[in-house]
Amino acid sequence: MIYLKTAEEIEKLAKACDLVSRTLGEVAKWVVPGVSTLKLDTIAREFILDNGGKPSCLGYHGFPGTLCIEVNEMVVHGFPSDYVLKEGDIVGTDCVAELDGFHGDSCYTFPVGEIDEKTAALLRVTKESLYKGIEAAKAGKRIGDISNAVQTYCEHHGYSVVREMCGHGIGKSMHEDPEVPNYGRRGIGPVLKPGMCIAIEPMINLGSKNIVVMRDGWQCRTKDRKPSAHFEHTIVITDSEPRILTTFNYIEESLAKRQ
Ligand code: MF3
Ligand code: CO
Repeated sequence: MIYLKTAEEIEKLAKACDLVSRTLGEVAKWVVPGVSTLKLDTIAREFILDNGGKPSCLGYHGFPGTLCIEVNEMVVHGFPSDYVLKEGDIVGTDCVAELDGFHGDSCYTFPVGEIDEKTAALLRVTKESLYKGIEAAKAGKRIGDISNAVQTYCEHHGYSVVREMCGHGIGKSMHEDPEVPNYGRRGIGPVLKPGMCIAIEPMINLGSKNIVVMRDGWQCRTKDRKPSAHFEHTIVITDSEPRILTTFNYIEESLAKRQ
């Protein structure tokens, strides 16, 4: 069941999304060599709570963090831990927060210090593919148009698209219908309608598309242990251009100030 949101609901969702975006802006200040991923998680949790929100992932089916932490070959659902980030790593921080009954969802993959060129290109193209997907998200088109835009762009650059994990509808629940795959044919799937709120989240691998779910049932890494990148925005379909409710502006401001 796809819930179309009213204007009022969309404004609430937008506030939750702004909180998530500002949270990742805080996290960005700490993504440097020598910092543990648990520290990033603490920053995120405290920021969300201090701003009247609730970390949606923490305790969700037993998930142990506020952030999903995705270091190098980790694709999704990585646990915050005492792992200390080092120069050359990449780290995805996937964050969902609830505010006034609505969930916002966003993910950004950061370079830690200097990273090699191949990995930097993977990050760049994955982020660009997210915006390609968003561009395709117009009323009257279908989910498959988004999926195909992401897949075509990433595969054109020689990367592979993770199949097992998808984007999703979002609102009063963190995961709602429809599923938003990052691969597929144009013109298939549910029709996009104004008021539909979805999270688009390409998970893109440098090597093969295959992933392995670890024994804990959560953490997913690439089978070949090559790096994987992940970027995500929550958006709403409108009569005209899609409106992006989360933003990377806070992150980019934090990163620019550091240099
Ligand atoms: N941010 C994740 C997503 O994009 C949320 C799932 S993490 C979980 O769907 F731990 F809460 F499951
Ligand atoms: Co999501």
